[in-house]
Amino acid sequence: MIYARARRPRAGWCRRQIRLAAWIAVAALLLLFSALPGRTQQQECLACHGDQSMTDASGHSIAVDGKTFTDSIHGSLQCNDCHAGFTGYPHPDKPAPVQCGKCHADESGNVAGSVHAQASTHPCTGCHGNPHRIFAKSDARSTVYPLNVPRTCGNCHGNPEMAKKYGLPNVFSMYMDSIHGFALSKEGLLVAANCQSCHGSHHILAHKDPQSPTYKTNVPGTCGKCHAKIDADYEHGIHGKAVAAGDLKAPVCTDCHTAHAILQPTEAAFRMQSTPICGSCHTDKFSTYRDTFHSQLGSLGGYVETARCWDCHEAHDVLPASDPASPINQKNLVKTCGRCHAGANVSFVQYQPHANARDRQLNPGLYFVRLFMNILLISVLTFFVIHTILWLVRARYNQVKSKSANGGKDA
Ligand code: HEC
Ligand code: HEC
Ligand code: HEC
Ligand code: HEC
Ligand code: HEC
Ligand code: HEC
Ligand code: HEC
Ligand code: HEC
Ligand code: HEC
Ligand code: HEC
Ligand code: HEC
Repeated sequence: MIYARARRPRAGWCRRQIRLAAWIAVAALLLLFSALPGRTQQQECLACHGDQSMTDASGHSIAVDGKTFTDSIHGSLQCNDCHAGFTGYPHPDKPAPVQCGKCHADESGNVAGSVHAQASTHPCTGCHGNPHRIFAKSDARSTVYPLNVPRTCGNCHGNPEMAKKYGLPNVFSMYMDSIHGFALSKEGLLVAANCQSCHGSHHILAHKDPQSPTYKTNVPGTCGKCHAKIDADYEHGIHGKAVAAGDLKAPVCTDCHTAHAILQPTEAAFRMQSTPICGSCHTDKFSTYRDTFHSQLGSLGGYVETARCWDCHEAHDVLPASDPASPINQKNLVKTCGRCHAGANVSFVQYQPHANARDRQLNPGLYFVRLFMNILLISVLTFFVIHTILWLVRARYNQVKSKSANGGKDA
C-alpha cells in the first residue's frame, strides 16, 4: 500500500501517519466487503449500465438512469437485492428473472391468483412500469398514482388487438368518456373512481367469479364505498332487497348506469336513453308508459323535461305501490304528481300512467271503450269492403249488358 510506505521517524508525525494508515485500512476493508458477492455497490454496476447508450447484443437498451433510480422508492437497495446471482465478471448474459415476491410476498401471491397471472412477461412490470423507476403510490410519478392508473391499465385494456385476442371490451376509451374518467382526467379529482377503485389492484378477478368486487351481487357494495347514501337508498328499495335475497334478475347499479360508460344522470343523453333502462325488464309497464302523453312528449326528441319512470318511482329507493312509503302509493300521489303539476289534486291523480286498454280487469272502462271502438272500426271496414265488391260487380254487369245491346261493339 503506497500510504504505508516507511518514512524517516519523527514523533508527532509518526503518530499521525499511523492514525491515517488505520483509517485507510478501515476504508479499504469497507470497500472490500461491499465488493464481495451479495453486497455489490450500485456504483459498480452503474459504471457500465449508467452509460445511457448501452445496449445488449440484440440492440435492446440495458441502460439504467442512476439518478432516477436513487430517487426511486428502491433507491437505497443494492442492484443485487433484486438481481440475484451476480458473483463475478463478466456476469451471466441472461441473469435469473427478478423475484419481487422476495420482499413483497402478499402482492406477489395475489397477482399469482388473479386474471393477470399470465398476462405479461414480468408479473409486476406490466403495471409498475420500468423497474428502476418505481415510486410510492402517492407520488405523482408513480404509474399507480390514482390519476395515472387508467392510462396504466389502458396500455393493455385500450389496445384493440389485445381486446380482440382475449375477447374483452375495449374499456379504456369508454371509461375516459364517463363521468368518473372526466372527473379524474379533467378535474384531477383524486377520489373519483379509477380502475383500481372497482377492481382492486393485485387480486383482480373476472366478473363471473363470486369473489370479485365486480360480481353482480357485490357491485352495490363496491360503488357504495363512495356512494354510501345512494347505496343505502338502493338497499332499502325493492331491487336492493331482491338482489340481497339472491334474485339475479333484479338490477344492481351497473344494470342502470353501466360499469364504464357512466353518464351524469342530469345529461339529456341519460334521461333520453333511460326509459329503456327500466323498460328492458318491466316490458309491460314500458309499453303502457309508451302510450301515454308523458312518453310521447319525451320521444319527440330535444324536449326531455317530462316524467321518466324514476320521476314517479324514485331511482334507488323503488318501492311497490302497496308500500305506504312508496311515491306511487295512492296516499302519496298528489305529492308525487304535484312536483311537476302545480295544483294536482285527488281527482287529477286518477289519471293512470300505465293505463292498459287491453286489460279488462285492471281498466274496465278503458277496456270497453277500446272494445267498442275496435268493433265500430271493424264493422265500418267490413261494410265498405262488401260495398266496394258489390259496386264492382254491378259496374261489370252494366258494362257487359250495354256491350251486348250495341251488338258486340263497345259503347
Ligand atoms: C463491465 C461492465 C458491466 C458491469 C460492471 C455490469 N454489467 Fe450488466 N451487463 C453488461 C453487458 C455488456 C451486458 C449485456 C450482455 C448481453 O449482451 O447480453 C449486461 C447485461 C446485464 C443484464 C441483462 C440484460 C438483459 O438483456 O437481460 C442485467 C440484468 C445486468 N447486466 C445487471 C447488472 C448488474 C446488477 C450489475 C452489477 C452487479 C452489472 N450488470 C454490472 C455489462 C456490465
Ligand atoms: C426493485 C428491484 C430492482 C432493482 C433494485 C434493480 N433492478 Fe434492474 N431490473 C429489475 C427488473 C424486474 C428487471 C426486468 C428484467 C427481469 O424481469 O429480470 C430489471 C432489468 C435490468 C436490466 C436489463 C434491462 C432491460 O430492460 O432488460 C439491467 C441492465 C438492470 N436491471 C440493471 C440494474 C442495475 C444496474 C441496478 C442498480 C442500479 C438495478 N438493475 C436495480 C429490477 C430491479
Ligand atoms: C394489474 C396491475 C398491477 C400488477 C400486475 C401489479 N400491481 Fe402492484 N399495484 C397496482 C396498483 C393499482 C397499486 C396501487 C394500489 C393502491 O392505490 O392501493 C399497486 C400498489 C403496489 C404496492 C404498494 C402497496 C400498498 O398498499 O402500499 C406494492 C408493494 C406493489 N404494488 C407491488 C407489486 C408487486 C410485487 C407486483 C408483482 C407481483 C405487482 N405489484 C403487480 C397495480 C398492479
Ligand atoms: C429487497 C427487497 C425488495 C425487492 C426485491 C423489491 N422491493 Fe419493492 N420495496 C421494498 C421496500 C423496502 C420498499 C419501501 C417500503 C416502504 O417505504 O413502505 C418498497 C416499495 C415498493 C413500492 C411502493 C409502495 C408504496 O408505498 O406505494 C412498490 C410499488 C414496489 N416496492 C414494487 C416492487 C416491485 C414491482 C418489485 C420487483 C420489480 C420490488 N418492489 C422488489 C423492497 C423491495
Ligand atoms: C400488461 C397488460 C395488462 C395490464 C397493464 C392490465 N391488464 Fe388486465 N388483463 C390483461 C390480459 C391479457 C387479460 C386477460 C387474461 C386472460 O383472460 O387470461 C386481462 C384481464 C383483465 C380482467 C378480467 C377480464 C375477464 O373478465 O376475464 C380485468 C377485470 C382486468 N384485466 C382489469 C385490469 C385492471 C383494472 C388493470 C389496471 C390496474 C389491468 N387489468 C392492467 C392484460 C393487462
Ligand atoms: C365504477 C367501477 C368500475 C371502474 C371505475 C372500472 N371498472 Fe371495469 N368493470 C366494472 C364492473 C362492475 C365490471 C363487470 C362487468 C360489467 O358490469 O360490465 C367490469 C368489467 C371489466 C372488464 C372485463 C369485462 C368483462 O366483460 O369481463 C375489464 C377488462 C375491466 N372492467 C377493466 C377496467 C379498466 C381497465 C378500468 C379503468 C380504465 C376499469 N375497468 C374501470 C367496474 C368498473
Ligand atoms: C372511489 C370512489 C367511487 C366509486 C367506487 C364509484 N364512484 Fe361514482 N363517482 C365518484 C365521484 C367522486 C363522483 C363525482 C364526479 C363529479 O361529480 O365530478 C362520481 C360520480 C358518479 C355519477 C354521476 C353523479 C352525478 O351527480 O353526476 C354516477 C352516476 C356514479 N358515480 C355511479 C357510480 C357507480 C354505478 C359506481 C359503481 C359501479 C360508482 N359510481 C363507483 C366516486 C366513486
Ligand atoms: C333501477 C336503476 C338504477 C339502479 C339499480 C341504480 N341507479 Fe343510480 N340512478 C338511476 C337513475 C334513473 C338516476 C337519475 C335520478 C334522477 O335524475 O333523479 C340515478 C342517479 C344516480 C346518481 C346521481 C345522484 C342522484 O341521486 O341523482 C348516482 C351517483 C347513482 N345513481 C349511483 C348509483 C349507485 C351507486 C347505485 C347502486 C348502489 C345505483 N345508482 C343504482 C338509476 C339506477
Ligand atoms: C334488471 C331488471 C330490472 C330493471 C333494469 C329494473 N327493474 Fe324494477 N324490478 C325488477 C324485478 C326482478 C323486480 C321484482 C322484485 C321482487 O318483487 O322481489 C322489480 C320490482 C320493481 C317494482 C315493484 C313492483 C313490482 O312489480 O314488484 C317497481 C315499482 C319497479 N321495479 C320499478 C322499476 C323502475 C322505476 C326501474 C328503472 C329506474 C326499474 N324497476 C328497473 C327488475 C328490474
Ligand atoms: C307519471 C308517473 C309514472 C311514470 C312516468 C311511470 N310510472 Fe310506473 N306507476 C305509476 C303509478 C301511479 C303506479 C301505480 C298504479 C298503476 O299500477 O297503474 C305505477 C305502477 C308501476 C309498477 C307496478 C308497481 C306495483 O307495485 O304494482 C311498475 C313495475 C312500474 N310502474 C314501472 C314503471 C316503469 C318501468 C316506467 C317507465 C317505463 C314507469 N313505471 C313510469 C306512475 C308512473
Ligand atoms: C317530472 C315531472 C312530471 C311528473 C312527476 C308528472 N308529470 Fe304529468 N306531465 C309532465 C309534463 C312536462 C307534461 C306535459 C306538459 C303539460 O301539459 O303540463 C305532463 C302531462 C300530463 C298529462 C296530460 C296533460 C295535462 O296536463 O292534462 C296528464 C294527465 C299528467 N301529466 C298526469 C300526471 C300524473 C297523474 C302524474 C303522477 C302520477 C304525473 N303526471 C306526474 C310532467 C310530469
